[in-house]
Amino acid sequence: MTQKIAILGASGYTGAELARIIATHPEMEITALSGDRKAGMRMGDVFPHLRHMGLPDLVKIEEIDFSAIDLAFCALPHATSQAVITELPRDLKVVDLSADFRLRDAAEYEKWYGKPHAAMDLQAEAVYGLTEFYRDELKTARLCAGTGCNAAAGQYAIRPLIEAGVIDLDEIVIDLKAGVSGAGRALKENLLHAELAGGTMPYSAGGKHRHLGEFDQEFSKAAGRPVRVQFTPHLMPFNRGILATVYVRGTPEDIHAALVARYENEVFLEVLPFGQLASTRSIAGSNFVHLGVIGDRLPGRAVVTVALDNLTKGSSGQAIQNANLMLGLPETLGLMLAPVFP
Ligand SMILES: NC(=O)c1ccc[n+]([C@@H]2O[C@H](COP(=O)([O-])OP(=O)(O)OC[C@H]3O[C@@H](n4cnc5c(N)ncnc54)[C@H](OP(=O)(O)O)[C@@H]3O)[C@@H](O)[C@H]2O)c1
Repeated sequence: MTQKIAILGASGYTGAELARIIATHPEMEITALSGDRKAGMRMGDVFPHLRHMGLPDLVKIEEIDFSAIDLAFCALPHATSQAVITELPRDLKVVDLSADFRLRDAAEYEKWYGKPHAAMDLQAEAVYGLTEFYRDELKTARLCAGTGCNAAAGQYAIRPLIEAGVIDLDEIVIDLKAGVSGAGRALKENLLHAELAGGTMPYSAGGKHRHLGEFDQEFSKAAGRPVRVQFTPHLMPFNRGILATVYVRGTPEDIHAALVARYENEVFLEVLPFGQLASTRSIAGSNFVHLGVIGDRLPGRAVVTVALDNLTKGSSGQAIQNANLMLGLPETLGLMLAPVFP
């Protein structure tokens, strides 16, 4: 039976990406879409690339009849998301793309997001959405907390290395380049073409980026002791994609072997032959992740590169993968889109 789907925040980038992927999903049908400022508009007018889909018009969230919905994707800003999900029926399956239910510790949420969490009762039932590491829990989840896009990239590179014990846990550096769609569609001065094109710069440097909360939580869980990494993201003048270059201390061949072993049965995670490096060009528009490992001229050091698309595996593709599990559907359904190249 086709699953009836609502997308809350459908007039944003991740909402549009959910709709694009669901266009060819054989078991999902979009029956409700919400916008805020764009409520009342036709989806095909807001996003002309989706015009052919014959989608429902954008409405306010309170106009949606959730009794007719099997699963809601919530692609709203954090804080708004928890306020909205609190008001939804408690038996409705929800995949949240925001940061609101990722951190299990209320104090950590307040530290990174600047205000107290108002729905910790719901947080307690949320399953963290890094599919390949939470698959069994996701199969029975009602509420999924999608990961941060940068947080997903860093974890795909580092988690298996922590689990395999092949790196020094106190010397991990994540240098990351992120495409501008990661910042959402709302107007911001620093995202104007004239201010972004032709240059790049770091942001949230010096241990201030919010996704460090996820790294702290998840790496420490995997290691069984506190792990803290250095992480500097850079805003790049391209639309989609994340490339993380991760510097670690360990034997490069062992590091490569650990990634190959951990991901050998994972459809979306592709470990390149030793010495090859990941590129955003090879995964754009798809749910695939590429990982590459190379040695360094400094003995006992390695460089791990990981590329994913922030709008697919970093958010909406991951969300659909998790929704498939929550709905009892094959995990890869609708997600085998080949990357766009060039
Ligand atoms: N972009 C990414 O790569 C990425 C990756 C991972 C996770 N995320 C997370 O996913 C969520 C959505 O991100 P996005 O990039 O799609 O953002 P976006 O492009 O800014 O879209 C935000 C959406 O939320 C709606 N909205 C904003 N304020 C609202 C309110 N008070 N009430 C109801 N609806 C409201 C907007 O409606 P109107 O436009 O009609 O006003 C729009 O549909 C965020 O929490 C973000 O952190 C994003």
